[in-house]
Amino acid sequence: MRLKDRLAIVTGGSSGIGRAIAIALSNEGAYVVVSDIDQAPKRGKYHEKNTTTSTVDEISKSGGQGTFIQCDMSDENGIRNLIGKTIQEHDRIDILVNNAGICFTSDSQETTTEAFDNLVGINLRGVFLATKYAVPHIKKSETGRIINIASVHAFNGGGGPAYAASKAGVVNLTKDTALELAPHGGTVNAICPGYIETAIQDDLTEQDIQESIEKTPLPRLGLPKDIGLAALFLASDDAEWITGISLVVDGGMLAPLPVA
Ligand SMILES: NC(=O)c1ccc[n+]([C@@H]2O[C@H](COP(=O)([O-])OP(=O)(O)OC[C@H]3O[C@@H](n4cnc5c(N)ncnc54)[C@H](O)[C@@H]3O)[C@@H](O)[C@H]2O)c1
Repeated sequence: MRLKDRLAIVTGGSSGIGRAIAIALSNEGAYVVVSDIDQAPKRGKYHEKNTTTSTVDEISKSGGQGTFIQCDMSDENGIRNLIGKTIQEHDRIDILVNNAGICFTSDSQETTTEAFDNLVGINLRGVFLATKYAVPHIKKSETGRIINIASVHAFNGGGGPAYAASKAGVVNLTKDTALELAPHGGTVNAICPGYIETAIQDDLTEQDIQESIEKTPLPRLGLPKDIGLAALFLASDDAEWITGISLVVDGGMLAPLPVA
């Protein structure tokens, strides 16, 4: 059990990548606070069509321990409450996984100011706020970890002015927080997934999905567990000297491009 006695918070933990991360951390003994705007898992039109149980139920079925705390990551008071309640009940935070996010890739003319603010408010400001309120507690952990879920879109154009910019911001925020936590022995890393089979892909066409498989040298879409296992590595003692990085987990999609 690599994470025995550690307390992890996973935002956006009800569905998709966050759910897989919560389960992977729990399988190694962490107590997982699953946080999300909705407790029910999303059911996509292409992927996760048959997912019905809550993440905490899945954790319990495997003999793990966890609880659900509702939180909208665009709401500062809600984030303060998530951290406060966790400390009240468990008196520690060892691992924070900032995973909650939304996606649209429309261009500058199609993207309204409200939609831009909403996306950045969840994907970037939400990561900043959870970090801000969790850091004083993570500093006290001997094995403090923050893992931010960014995207391959952080590095190149084509992901729209809101989504790609928010994820590029998360990559930089990761490096900045890594410097802040290093004197306290904690690490801060990002994971940049390629295209992963979750309900977030509902806005894509079947042709988009086929094209993304063809652009991937290891020719399949990623599975949520591909990211769950990468997060488990970064959370574990095996990664104690890795900080400030953005780990690309994309089946090689970025390999032919100049920046990754
Ligand atoms: N699936 C992919 O192809 C892919 C690729 C790169 C990056 N990502 C990133 O991975 C993360 C997880 O995405 P996913 O694919 O699992 O998506 P998903 O839609 O399956 O799951 C996202 C979860 O976040 C929750 N959420 C949404 N808005 C929220 C809010 N305001 N407050 C709290 N929770 C909220 C949802 O309820 C849902 O449970 C996101 O940050 C996304 O940008 C996904």
